[in-house]
Amino acid sequence: MSFPKGFIWGAATSAYQIEGAAAQDGRGPSVWDAFCREPGRVHEAHTGNVACDHYHHYASDVALMREAALHAYRFSISWSRVLPTGRGTVNPEGLAFYDRLVDTLLAANIQPWLTLFHWDYPLALYQEGGWLHKDSPQWFADYVRLIVDKLSDRVSRWMTLNEPQCFIGLGHQTGIHAPGVKLPLDQTLLAAHRVQLAHGLAVQTIRTHAKLRPLIGWAPTGDVAIPATETAEDIAAAREAYWRVSPDNVWNMAWWLDPVFKGKHPEQGLQAYGAAVPEITDADLRTIHQPLDFLGLNIYQGYLCQGGKPGAVNIVPHPTGHPETHNHWPVTPGALRWGPYFAHERYGLPIVITESGMASHDWVSQDKRVHDPQRIDYLARYIGELGRAISDGVPILGYFAWSFMDNFEWAEGYRYRFGLVHVDYATQKRTLKDSALWYRNFIRANGQPNSQTIDISVTEPGSASVQLSPRA
Ligand code: GCO
Repeated sequence: MSFPKGFIWGAATSAYQIEGAAAQDGRGPSVWDAFCREPGRVHEAHTGNVACDHYHHYASDVALMREAALHAYRFSISWSRVLPTGRGTVNPEGLAFYDRLVDTLLAANIQPWLTLFHWDYPLALYQEGGWLHKDSPQWFADYVRLIVDKLSDRVSRWMTLNEPQCFIGLGHQTGIHAPGVKLPLDQTLLAAHRVQLAHGLAVQTIRTHAKLRPLIGWAPTGDVAIPATETAEDIAAAREAYWRVSPDNVWNMAWWLDPVFKGKHPEQGLQAYGAAVPEITDADLRTIHQPLDFLGLNIYQGYLCQGGKPGAVNIVPHPTGHPETHNHWPVTPGALRWGPYFAHERYGLPIVITESGMASHDWVSQDKRVHDPQRIDYLARYIGELGRAISDGVPILGYFAWSFMDNFEWAEGYRYRFGLVHVDYATQKRTLKDSALWYRNFIRANGQPNSQTIDISVTEPGSASVQLSPRA
């Protein structure tokens, strides 16, 4: 495995999953606070009230990131911590927390990668209509302005939204995530449209007001269609499956990404959704279609596709006993090769793997260490396939392991551990797992350094160019 010099190795978290301090220093509630209070919604009625108490442990957590040799840390801002009712009155103590966090990261020489929204929508705005409200894109843009004004003198890496497929699909259509409603498809697609407008306005806001020249992306997700073999037929079948929009849900890539990167919706998606598609004007599409600098991809798993009848997805089932993670996701390293490959082929942008990782059965052993050989093997295999994507010519800027530390896994509560760092929730003691030590060595060696160097230059807004050149 070899990676270009300058490749960014990081780890990611999100605010509600780690911060805790849910009712402290003026934070307002989000839909997740409300959802966790509803009986039967979250595994064993767990909540993010305390979580990893990162709000109070951020300084020692950053010290651990440094110990783990991370180049960069991806985190999100809790909107209702800085704007307790989502808009209007600012909570200075909330803003001050992110100010301290960013300063602490920079002092540790760790680059902050900031996600503006990772699912914890302000409850007060939800009660006004949430993503269905026609003003919701502007509410988001106003919040983004506040963050940009406060942090863009030190933060230059931005992601607008994390996994819109999940907070709209799971949150608003199937209802298994907050806010837990089950909207009909047309309303779900209307909410999705408002989310896309919010993304576009946010990008404009960052471009206009950022003090440091920004690098802007977002972080959608999707299971990757992996060609069963490297024949042209299987590759074509996988490509088709990856971009297909199925008629009854929003769990897809193309409906979300095409408007953002191409300024139009995919024809096949328009047909699949038919009458459920909301009214979308040309002006809307211009707002959504803002130039971006990179495409973030959250990739955990994929399915194998083989060629066959055109128009039909021929999925090859995994063999009996195929490896799977603690939460039963199949281990499919090829997802980290073919996801970036297909995405770059379709949109042409540099790619960042904004999340990838696994849940494992981790505990502190008698020797006081946390042995997680399966995560090490998982990381090595997935990162190895990412290296193949680079060899295929895909410009990939970086990789963020999900997650830096064990945390609140949404409706699954604390039952699944995704961290490189183990968290004892009773004592808040952190332990670097063996995988963190492996990752540290790997980062220090940059895989096996190859002969190329990555040069990220942003000359024009939205035109980040990545040059792979022979190392000097
Ligand atoms: C996700 C989220 C993370 C999850 C992770 C594991 O984006 O789904 O970004 O919050 O914890 O993916 O399920």
